[in-house]
Amino acid sequence: MKKNIYLCNSKTKIMIDTNTSTKFLGLELKSPIISGSCGLTSKLDNLIKMEKAGVGAVVLKSLFEEQITFDIQKNTGFISNFDHGESYDYIANHIEGHEIDKYMSLIIEAKKVLQIPIIASINCISYSNWVNYAKKLQDAGADAIEINFMYLPFSQNISYDDIERLFSDTILALRRSISIPIIIKVGKYFTDMAKFLHKLSWSGVNAITMFNKNINFDIDTEKEELKHTSIISDKSMLYDTLRWTALLSGKIRCDISASSGVLTGDDVVKTLLSGAQTVQVVSALYSNGVEYIKDMTDYLKQWMEKKGYKSIDDFRGKLRVNDNDNSQFVRTQFMRYYAEIE
Ligand SMILES: Cc1cc2nc3c(=O)[nH]c(=O)nc-3n(C[C@H](O)[C@H](O)[C@H](O)COP(=O)(O)O)c2cc1C
Repeated sequence: MKKNIYLCNSKTKIMIDTNTSTKFLGLELKSPIISGSCGLTSKLDNLIKMEKAGVGAVVLKSLFEEQITFDIQKNTGFISNFDHGESYDYIANHIEGHEIDKYMSLIIEAKKVLQIPIIASINCISYSNWVNYAKKLQDAGADAIEINFMYLPFSQNISYDDIERLFSDTILALRRSISIPIIIKVGKYFTDMAKFLHKLSWSGVNAITMFNKNINFDIDTEKEELKHTSIISDKSMLYDTLRWTALLSGKIRCDISASSGVLTGDDVVKTLLSGAQTVQVVSALYSNGVEYIKDMTDYLKQWMEKKGYKSIDDFRGKLRVNDNDNSQFVRTQFMRYYAEIE
C-alpha cells in the first residue's frame, strides 16, 4: 500500500495550532480517525498502541451471536437441546457466558488504561440477544455500541417493508433498554438507500456507519469452485462512501461515520470534506500497522495547516451535496462520460 505523500517535509514544524478534535455521538474525540471493528481491536495491546498513535476512538471487534451458537454446537457434538435438554443448556450457557465475559473483561481493562471512547460492537441473529448483549456491554462500561447489521436482502420472499421493520424493531428495543449512544452500521444493499437511512436517522440512533463490507466471492475456473477475494479494501471502495456521505450529510438527523476504502491521510481529508463526522479505518491498519494512524493524523494536520484551517468544522462538509446543484453526484456526470454531453 502507498504511504501518505506529505504536503510538506515530515520534519516541517506545524506552525498554526491545528485542532483535530471533533464531536461524535455527543462525545469529544481528539481526532476524527477511528479504528473500525476488526481483529486488531480485540487485543488490549493494540488498543494501547492505537491511542498512542492518536486515534479518536476504537470500535471493538464484534461479538457475533452466530459464532457463539457455532461454538455451542461444536462443543455439544451438534446434538439438539430436545434430545439432551439439561446438559445441552448447561454447556450452551457456559459457552455463551464465557464469550460475553471475555468481551466484558476487554472493555473493563480498556477503560482502566485508555482515555479514548471504547465502542463495543455486536452482531446478533435473535431479537432478544441484541438487547441482552448490548445491556451487558453497557454495564461493562462501553461508551457507545455499534450495531453491526450485516444483512443481505437477497431473498425474493423478503420485502423492503420486512427489512425496514427488522431494523426499526431492533433499534426501538435497544433504545428502550440502553442509554449509551447507538451507532448502526449498514451495508450498501438497500432499495431507496437515501430514504431508508434518513428514516433510520430519526429512529433514535446517534450515528450511521456507512458502509460495512461484504466479503465478495470469486470463481476458481480450474477447480470450478467459489473462492473468497481479499478482505483488504482497495481504493475503489472509497467512492461509494464519498458519494453517500456527500449526499446524506447535513440532511439526516444523526452523525455519519464514513467507512470503507479510507486507506490514506488524503482519503481521511476527502471523507471529512464530504461531511463525515468521523472516519473509520481498518484495511489501512492491516496493511501498514496500527501506528499508521499517526501518519494519517499528521497528514490531516499538515493539510489543514496548508489550507489555513484551524478546526475540522472549518472545512467539514464543504463538498457535501448542494441541493441546488447535485449534478456532479448524480445524473449529469454519467451523461458527460457516456453520452459525451458537456
Ligand atoms: C479482518 C477484518 C475483520 C473485520 N471484522 C469486523 C467485525 O468484527 N465487525 C464489523 O462490524 N466489521 C468488521 N470488519 C469490517 C470493517 O470494520 C470495515 O467496515 C471494512 O473493513 C471496511 O473498512 P476498510 O476499507 O477500512 O477496511 C472487518 C474487516 C476486516 C478486514
